[in-house]
Amino acid sequence: MRLLVTGGAGFIGANFVHAAVREHPDVHVTVLDALTYAGSAESLAPVADDVRLIHGDISDAELVEKLVAESDAVAHFAAETHVDNSLADPEAFLRTNVIGTFTLLESVRRHGIRLHHVSTDEVYGDLALEDPVRFTESTPYNPSSPYSATKAASDMLVRSWVRSYGVRATISNCSNNYGPYQHVEKFIPRQITNVLTGRRPKLYGAGANVRDWIHVTDHNRAVWRILSDGELGRTYLIGADGERDNLTVMRTLLRLMDRDPNDFEHVTDRAGHDLRYAIDPSVLRDELGWAPRHDDFESGLAETIEWYRDNESWWRPLKDASEAMYAERNQ
Ligand code: NAD
Ligand code: TYD
Repeated sequence: MRLLVTGGAGFIGANFVHAAVREHPDVHVTVLDALTYAGSAESLAPVADDVRLIHGDISDAELVEKLVAESDAVAHFAAETHVDNSLADPEAFLRTNVIGTFTLLESVRRHGIRLHHVSTDEVYGDLALEDPVRFTESTPYNPSSPYSATKAASDMLVRSWVRSYGVRATISNCSNNYGPYQHVEKFIPRQITNVLTGRRPKLYGAGANVRDWIHVTDHNRAVWRILSDGELGRTYLIGADGERDNLTVMRTLLRLMDRDPNDFEHVTDRAGHDLRYAIDPSVLRDELGWAPRHDDFESGLAETIEWYRDNESWWRPLKDASEAMYAERNQ
């Protein structure tokens, strides 16, 4: 199989490509990635000899047309992904997440190519802390931020291209990922690298917000299952029963790094900050037989901390610029 992976030089995409090369040597992987601030060829260095990396934009219709025509399937990870950036400057989110997905859809439509669209649980908005029901495939969309609104728009485009044009696509909406190669702007790697560079970790508001953490390799195993055996036109929710509030994650992380669990700063809260995300993954478990392998968050977090300790050359060049950006926003 010839697989085109968009955004394969980013956090989840790079982990997906590593696993594809390792576990499916018969698959020929081409990565299409714009190598924005969030992507780097270095994240693909361990598989550089086995993968073709094309530096280009998913909204470049001519390039996308050529690459899709040469592929049997597309796994679509490319996106602008950081909520805080979307609040500061939403335009790139519209271009990549909406126009980019549209561009891909038009090409897979023309060539009859299978597409898997990777999305987020943030399209559903947020839950109350005590809400007994988690997100399911039928929860109505209610996005809060420019990031989640543009991801919701991209999901809607995929759904309508399936219905109107018979495009052979599936969608997955996953909860918050953690693991190696995640950009230092995101919560967990930001705090790990703050400690490693002598900065104090930063918690938004009181830290009561809940995220449902899943290890990136479990997310990618689910994406592979859906790409292989998912029912066309369906949406699958991916989550690993990993709900924790940010304050708890912060304290766990500090303890695992041998720091005082209260040695962090409270900083300005995010505008419109979603309170809680939580996924009901029953369909994926029952129909596709998927289950997470990293079912212990604390040991997954400890492994992730080790990865950042061992791979300073990967994240060090990103860190100062990322913190300078946060400083401008009092975060
Ligand atoms: P990331 O920001 O780490 O990586 C995104 C990648 O896309 C980068 O390599 C970047 O260079 C590339 N890219 C951006 N714009 C592009 C364009 N116009 N053309 C081609 N490439 C472009 O993101 P991630 O965390 O790896 O997320 C990947 C996907 O998974 C996204 O669609 C995101 O919405 C979804 N998702 C992420 C999470 C999470 O917790 N990180 C959870 C659920 C779903
Ligand atoms: P983030 O990693 O940006 O993911 P998302 O907002 O897409 O869920 O943030 C995860 C949670 O951590 C979110 O509630 C915001 C919070 N947060 C902090 O408390 N401090 C930080 O420095 C960052 C980046 C996020």
